[in-house]
Amino acid sequence: MTVIQYVLAIFILFFITDLFTGGTNTTSDAILWILAELVNHPAAFKKLREEIDSVVGTERLVDEEDIPNLPYFQACVKEAMRLNPPVPLFDRICGENCKLGGYDIPKGITMIMNAYSIMRDPKIFENPNDFIPERFLTEQDTAKGQNLQVYVPFGGGRRMCPGTNMTSSLINCSVTAMVQCFDWKVLGGDGADGSKVNMDSKSGVVKTMAKPFMAIPVLHSNLFSA
Ligand code: HEM
Repeated sequence: MTVIQYVLAIFILFFITDLFTGGTNTTSDAILWILAELVNHPAAFKKLREEIDSVVGTERLVDEEDIPNLPYFQACVKEAMRLNPPVPLFDRICGENCKLGGYDIPKGITMIMNAYSIMRDPKIFENPNDFIPERFLTEQDTAKGQNLQVYVPFGGGRRMCPGTNMTSSLINCSVTAMVQCFDWKVLGGDGADGSKVNMDSKSGVVKTMAKPFMAIPVLHSNLFSA
């Protein structure tokens, strides 16, 4: 093996490792958080199912082409990702001396962006800790790219997550199917009747659930053979 082949092999190995480590848990965590928010907000779950039924019908599963016609679904995903970004922290190295929010930031320093607190900032979002998908349905918020500075579950700029589109496809197909086909009976949850998913997260640099989300999927409509 020549040196160039060796370097190339290492590069490919790191590239694939990057994609796997960056793309597996993050996507499954995102799907869990989105479903958990919907289960904890039955009115939103019902409204979402009604939207899907009216746009797609009750005879087939949602597919990728239906997504632009499901604005409430898109708003639910955005709102759940705003509240529960699977990657709440990411970093940048400052390229030149600058001033940010009144602070002097010297060149070369590593800064940590806190996407979690940016997206729960009460100066930006009204009732920031509440699940209100409708906030993403206003005309200005549905515009593509709107809120780039404040809606950052995938980071931003040139180093923004390259897996955004792939992840969105996975989320779109799986979450819509989970809403179309099943009702969810939470096991050992919070609340007087134990029907609420516990939304605490583990401490750490990724946002994962502190307690496992356990629920029985009760068949609502079997569309998998359609
Ligand atoms: C819900 C799922 C995901 C979330 C929330 C997420 C979030 C993020 C965030 C916040 C960053 C840092 C961006 C920045 O610094 O501005 C990032 C980087 C990255 N993500 Fe994702 N990601 C997800 C899925 C994926 C998938 C599916 C892949 C690959 C197939 C992937 C691959 C990567 C890679 C390689 C980077 C590093 C990019 C760079 O440094 O230039 N991610 N991701």
